[in-house]
Amino acid sequence: MNDSTVAVIVVAAGSGTRLGHAEPKAFVPLGDDTILGVALEAVFGMRERPHVVVVAPADRVDEVRARYAGRASAASVALDVVAGGLTRQESVARGIAGLPREIEVVLVHDAARPLAPPQVFDEVAAAVEGRGHGIVPGLPVVDTVKRVDGSGHVLETVDRSELAAMQTPQGFPREALESAYASAGSDFTDDAALVAAAGVPVDVVPGDARAFKITVPSDLHRAEQLLAERIAAAPAAEPAPRRALTAHAAVPRVGTGIDVHGFADDPDTALWLAGLHWPGERGLSGHSDGDAVAHAICDALLAAAGLGDIGGMFGTDDPRFSGAHGEVFLAETVRRLAEAGWRVGNVSVQVVGNRPKLAPRRAEAEAVLTGIVGAPVSLAATTTDGLGFTGRGEGVAAIATALVVPA
Ligand code: CTP
Ligand code: MG
Repeated sequence: MNDSTVAVIVVAAGSGTRLGHAEPKAFVPLGDDTILGVALEAVFGMRERPHVVVVAPADRVDEVRARYAGRASAASVALDVVAGGLTRQESVARGIAGLPREIEVVLVHDAARPLAPPQVFDEVAAAVEGRGHGIVPGLPVVDTVKRVDGSGHVLETVDRSELAAMQTPQGFPREALESAYASAGSDFTDDAALVAAAGVPVDVVPGDARAFKITVPSDLHRAEQLLAERIAAAPAAEPAPRRALTAHAAVPRVGTGIDVHGFADDPDTALWLAGLHWPGERGLSGHSDGDAVAHAICDALLAAAGLGDIGGMFGTDDPRFSGAHGEVFLAETVRRLAEAGWRVGNVSVQVVGNRPKLAPRRAEAEAVLTGIVGAPVSLAATTTDGLGFTGRGEGVAAIATALVVPA
């Protein structure tokens, strides 16, 4: 998809024991998404589009792929999903194993730090590229730190000016990370420690308070509050399509689509409408078969899923779709939705026009469309009392509403 030389491995295969949810931590709801979804949104927002590898619990790999493929492709980011291991270190190792050849810089990030902003990723990647060694974001330690023995006696106060609390994303030249992992014996607490043990220099750059890790329930509460503040502060600044794409939560979504086609000048043009051929009726003009009902449904489905519209997806002058029937567009639209993690709940569509008379074939049309969409499609029709282009018999309009739900 792109020829990026930067990869971000997002480790999300932990169980989240300390958070105490039934779901693995990365799949716990956050805002209108999940912890992983919010973390990925920041990664997708990087200045240079990275190659992204999500390391997920083995039984959630397909789900993660289906759920985020659409958003990744909307952000022009290549997304791989691989199964994790028993420890974080093993999970990172599995992420490294799947990296494409052209990758030169690797950032390793905890999904459990979902609010780390895109700028931190950009800065860490740029610093690795510039300096050629490991880069770790860190924050000064503000509390007084003491060394304490096993029975709770204070042994000494540690000079905190020499201390920093480490965050992720941590970035490394690919070769250094790969060879450090290949030779790592024991379990290290972070990637920087593992790489430093292999003799690679590691520098600290300023971290960001928002990159805190969600470990216990109070952390999740804090993340919810920060996210709510961010959404409240941002709506005008963030472009609408992007907001639509982030709202991929476990809630249904609706979309609306409208399409209009004029009757063809040539009286021999066949009419295709609502997936049916209508012998003896004047056909509609258009690059494809002019099936306004099918096209309106496509737009409603794509809008509901935040995937754009039929023009953007199929290209109105693409020769492959010249004369294509509505079912071609519909079937492909439903496939794209499934790929992005959506299934169709139902569709309702109303045809506006004088001809053809839909009532006698309504059940037949509903059955055909329902079969293609894989969910109930209901069809209604109306005239406009002689008013407007439909009233003058110049063409047909269709208005569709679609409901989609996370697959
Ligand atoms: N992680 C992973 N594979 C593991 C363990 C952890 O990919 N076998 C990931 C987690 O998903 C998380 C990050 O490493 O994004 C940091 O780990 P941590 O905060 O400890 O998460 P969990 O291990 O899931 O939580 P807990 O230790 O409370 O069980
Ligand atoms: Mg853990």
